[in-house]
Amino acid sequence: MTSQLFSPIRLAGVELANRIVVSPMCQYSAEDGAMTEWHSTHIGMLANSGAGLFIVEATGVEARGRITHGCVGLYSDADEAAMKRVIDHARKIGTAKFGIQLAHAGRKASSQRPWQGAGPLSSGENPWETIAPSPIPFGPGWHTPREMTDKDIATVTEAFVAAAKRALRIGFDTIELHAAHGYLLHAFASAISNKRADRYGGSLENRLRFPLEVMAAVRAVVPSSVALGARLTGSDWLDGGINPDEAAALAKGFKGAGADYVDVSSGGLTHAARNPTDPGYNVPLAEKVKRDAGIATRTVGLILAPQQAEAIIADGRADMIALGRGVLNDPRWGWHAAFALGTEVARVPQYLRVGPKLWPGLTMKG
Ligand SMILES: Cc1cc2nc3c(=O)[nH]c(=O)nc-3n(C[C@H](O)[C@H](O)[C@H](O)COP(=O)(O)O)c2cc1C
Repeated sequence: MTSQLFSPIRLAGVELANRIVVSPMCQYSAEDGAMTEWHSTHIGMLANSGAGLFIVEATGVEARGRITHGCVGLYSDADEAAMKRVIDHARKIGTAKFGIQLAHAGRKASSQRPWQGAGPLSSGENPWETIAPSPIPFGPGWHTPREMTDKDIATVTEAFVAAAKRALRIGFDTIELHAAHGYLLHAFASAISNKRADRYGGSLENRLRFPLEVMAAVRAVVPSSVALGARLTGSDWLDGGINPDEAAALAKGFKGAGADYVDVSSGGLTHAARNPTDPGYNVPLAEKVKRDAGIATRTVGLILAPQQAEAIIADGRADMIALGRGVLNDPRWGWHAAFALGTEVARVPQYLRVGPKLWPGLTMKG
């Protein structure tokens, strides 16, 4: 039987070799927004995971939109040059295509790296002003963000467009907006974090206005040869927050604004939000979004076993799956999945000797 997980997929003008995606994952290892040697090593490694697409971590479209001092940005010529060096290198040595996640952290910006506490930066740690739809902190003890004015909304929209232009110059195959995990675009969409009284708050239509304006503005500069998408939340897992119906409305809106695909994740809106921990917990949300919005849909979250991933695609519940921790734990996850599912995956010539046709050890190992 042929594997559906390993079948190609076309998103706008981009053909991906299979349905496996390396999920965007912050490395907190940039300097003033610029990628470093860490990124060359990390992205170079996962360019050979067997996944058809690697997505660069949440990348701040402006300095105040980074989560931490160590987060990657794409708001200066230096950031662009550093990222181009890393992506050119990884493209040369790997089999994956490359996407980028453009982000603005909103009220979750000005935070400590996870291993330095994961809380808000204290006064001695060079904190910065955060912005959000409404002046409501992420949780107790967090910075109170400043409510964005119309001018801020225009500035941030322009920053997304400018970063998308830089991403195009770097040569990314896909570009996606981060509209999940409590960051700025998500914070506008959710009634819990958006209490505005103007045309950007209140009704669902108003709350979705800013994310959809950003998508339309970015699409206006991203040609159809590059796939454009968004990561959104399928559920806030909080009463009064985004539910699957609202998520489907957001996906439909993104599609109308020119998106080629969405990724359905969930959670992260407030300090109190807790995600489920069962395998594939976002799959039912993705299935609904895909059905209602009729757009190519990726999902993510505790997808670990090759057969589990295969079934999600084969049953039509999503069109692509992303792996986060699973592929950090096993950087050749795609190779191992191909073997488990009885199919082949592209390998660079230097590593052909470990393929099933040339290495009996693979069969012995199981
Ligand atoms: C170290 C780390 C960094 C992450 N950074 C991001 C990020 O930059 N953008 C994002 O949308 N999700 C981020 N996530 C969430 C993952 O992309 C993924 O959605 C989540 O880990 C669930 O998938 P998993 O169970 O396969 O890990 C991060 C997760 C981890 C573990």
